[in-house]
Amino acid sequence: MNTSAPKAPLPTLENIQIAIIGLGYVGLPLALEFGKHYRTLGFDTSQKRISDLRTHIDRTRQITESDWDQSCYLKFCDDEQDLSTANIYIIAVPTPIDTHKVPDLSHLLHASAIVAKYLKRGDVVIYESTTYPTCTQNECANVLEQISHLKLNKDFCLGYSPERINPSDRTHTLTSIKKITSGSTDEAGKFIDKLYASIITAGTHLVSSIESAEMTKIIENAQRDLNIAFVNEIYIICEHLGINALEVLEAAKTKWNFLPFSPGLVGGHCISVDPYYLTHKMNAMGYHPQVISSGRLINDAMPQFVAQKIIKLMIQNRIEILNAQILILGITFKPNCPDIRNSQIPIVKTQLEDFGAKVSIYDPLADSQEVVESYHISLLSVLPSHQFDVIFLAIAHDEFLHLSHNTLGKTHHIYYTLTPHKLEPLA
Ligand SMILES: NC(=O)c1ccc[n+]([C@@H]2O[C@H](COP(=O)([O-])OP(=O)(O)OC[C@H]3O[C@@H](n4cnc5c(N)ncnc54)[C@H](O)[C@@H]3O)[C@@H](O)[C@H]2O)c1
Repeated sequence: MNTSAPKAPLPTLENIQIAIIGLGYVGLPLALEFGKHYRTLGFDTSQKRISDLRTHIDRTRQITESDWDQSCYLKFCDDEQDLSTANIYIIAVPTPIDTHKVPDLSHLLHASAIVAKYLKRGDVVIYESTTYPTCTQNECANVLEQISHLKLNKDFCLGYSPERINPSDRTHTLTSIKKITSGSTDEAGKFIDKLYASIITAGTHLVSSIESAEMTKIIENAQRDLNIAFVNEIYIICEHLGINALEVLEAAKTKWNFLPFSPGLVGGHCISVDPYYLTHKMNAMGYHPQVISSGRLINDAMPQFVAQKIIKLMIQNRIEILNAQILILGITFKPNCPDIRNSQIPIVKTQLEDFGAKVSIYDPLADSQEVVESYHISLLSVLPSHQFDVIFLAIAHDEFLHLSHNTLGKTHHIYYTLTPHKLEPLA
C-alpha cells in the first residue's frame, strides 16, 4: 500500500529508456507500441525468439506490417547486459501453474532477478504478468531488493499494469483497451499512468494500490471462467434431460440481460490458470473460495464429458469403438489463434484412446513441433481424405468453417461439436 513517504526519484517521460522483458503475446505488442514513441529495448531469454523478431517473424501472429514499420525506436536484445541503460523495466513473462495447479512464479522471479542486477536508483519496474494480489510487492520486490541492494520506494519504485489483450481479436487491441495502472507510491502511480496514457488511445484507469490492480486482472478472468462454467453446466444438465442446449442458449440470449456465453473447453494461459492464482493465495490465508473453485471444477471436467459424449454417440450409432478412427479438428485453445497452452484437446484424445479408439488431430494453426514438445502428439500435416468414424470439431478456426460438407460430410458417420457452428452431420 502507498503508506511510506515517497523518496525515490522518478524519471520524466523525456528521459526514459524502456526495457520490455519477455516478448510473447503481451510483451511484443507492448514493445512495438512503446517503440513508436520512446527508446525501447525488447529482451527475451529465448534466442530463437529474438532472432525471429529481428527478421519480423512472429509466432503469435499478432503483429501487422505497419506495426513493424512504425516502431522506429525499438531494438531487440538477447544480451541482458544491454538492459543496464534502461530506467523503466516492464516485465511480461509467463505465469503458469504447475501440474498440481499451484502458481509457478519461476519465470517472474527469474525476470525480476535479471532486472535487479541492472536496477539503479530512480528506476521504475512495472509488472504486466498476471499474478495474485500481493505477489508484486512481496515476492517480486524481495528479489529486486535482495539482488540490487536497493530499497523499494526509497531507491526505486514499482508498478503493476495488467494486460487485457485478447489474442486473435483484431478489434480489442493494446491501444484500444483501457489500461489499469498502479504504483508503489502515489507519485509512481501517477507517473506510470502518464506513461501508459501516452500510448493507450482508450485511456487509463489509475487505481490506488498495486494489489487493487492485481486483483482487478484476476477477477476479470475469474468472472469469465465462471460465466463459461455456468453455460457448461447448463450444457451438461440439458444433456441429462435430452434437451438441445445450444437451442436453449440461443433462445435465452434473446433476453436483453442474459449473458451470451457459449459452452466450451477452457484452455489457454489466462482463464484456465488465473483463478488458481487467487484460490492458491486465499487457501494459504485460510479462506477457501467456493464459487471460483466450482467454476474451475466444472471447466476442468469438460474434456472428460466431451470424450464420454463422443463414445455415447458412437454406441448409439453402433460404431465399434475399438480401433474406431476419430478425427479432432483443432488443438489450439481457441479459434484463429496459434496458442496451444493448456489445450484441453490432449485430455480428450487420451480419454478416447483409453476406450481403444484411434485419434488423429489436425490443426493448421498450431506449430507441430511445439505440439510434439508439449504433448507428445504428432499432428496430421494435411487434412486427410480417408474415412473417419467420428469428426469432432473442437476449435472453430475460420479455416475449418469453410470445409463444410464438401470435405468433411462425405467421410464420417458422426459429427460432433460443442460450438454453435452449423456443420451438419451426415446422418
Ligand atoms: N496471452 C494473453 O493473451 C495474455 C493476456 C493478458 C495477460 N497475459 C499475461 O501476460 C503474461 C505473459 O503472457 P504471454 O502470453 O505474453 O506469454 P508468452 O509465453 O507468449 O511470452 C512470454 C515470453 O517471455 C519469455 N521469457 C520467459 N522467461 C523469461 C525471463 N526470465 N526473462 C526474459 N524473457 C523471458 C519467453 O521466452 C516468452 O517469449 C502472463 O502472466 C499472462 O498471464 C497474457
